[in-house]
Amino acid sequence: MTFRIETERLILRPLALTDEDDLLEYQSHPEIVRYIPWPERTREQVREALEKYAPLHKDVITENGDFLLLAWELKDGANKGKVIGQSNLSIERKEDQYSEFGYVTHQNFQRQGYAFEASRALLDYAFRNFAIHRIVAKIDSRNPESAHLAEKLGMRLEGTFRESEFFKGDWCDMWEYAILKSEFQA
Ligand SMILES: CC(C)(COP(=O)(O)OP(=O)(O)OC[C@H]1O[C@@H](n2cnc3c(N)ncnc32)[C@H](O)[C@@H]1OP(=O)(O)O)[C@@H](O)C(=O)NCCC(=O)NCCS
Repeated sequence: MTFRIETERLILRPLALTDEDDLLEYQSHPEIVRYIPWPERTREQVREALEKYAPLHKDVITENGDFLLLAWELKDGANKGKVIGQSNLSIERKEDQYSEFGYVTHQNFQRQGYAFEASRALLDYAFRNFAIHRIVAKIDSRNPESAHLAEKLGMRLEGTFRESEFFKGDWCDMWEYAILKSEFQA
């Protein structure tokens, strides 16, 4: 059966090569990629990334480096079927049951609760179905929107790592937000 997480307004399912047009709309946008490690992708770069990463999605993640790579597809309305964002969630250290995740919302669909809805459902699914004890979001300190979302998800700011990444030409302070399975499920 095809992997699928359903929320009130979204279907989360693996990214597919046929998502190219929808992904191009936001993956080419400068504001969207500012704090994520992608260039402003051209159509060719979107296709290349899809061809490279979409087949690597795993429905069940158990080993170091395994990841879910999920499109957020609108369930209803005028844009039914459109992909308006995406999530990734990986096993980083199996022995510690340590996972990291991330999220992106299409610029025309932000501030409507989609990232929260998708991320909450994904965390819930991940903690229920995989051997995961702790999930972390690494966030550029110039990206407070993302930090607010992490806080709304119940994540805790555990530290600021001064100039820990050289990112797109600048040294960046990184925030680490985290949540434990026991905290999420409480
Ligand atoms: C961060 C991001 C995913 C938020 O997506 P979104 O769909 O707009 O988020 P939601 O509508 O679900 O909002 C959830 C919460 O996030 C916070 N938030 C989102 N956008 C915000 C903004 N512009 N200013 C302040 N807080 C914001 C708020 O706490 C919000 O809750 P509230 O509406 O109750 O105040 C989106 O801005 C984005 O895609 N940014 C570019 C990609 C990126 O930087 N990803 C994260 C990399 S770490």
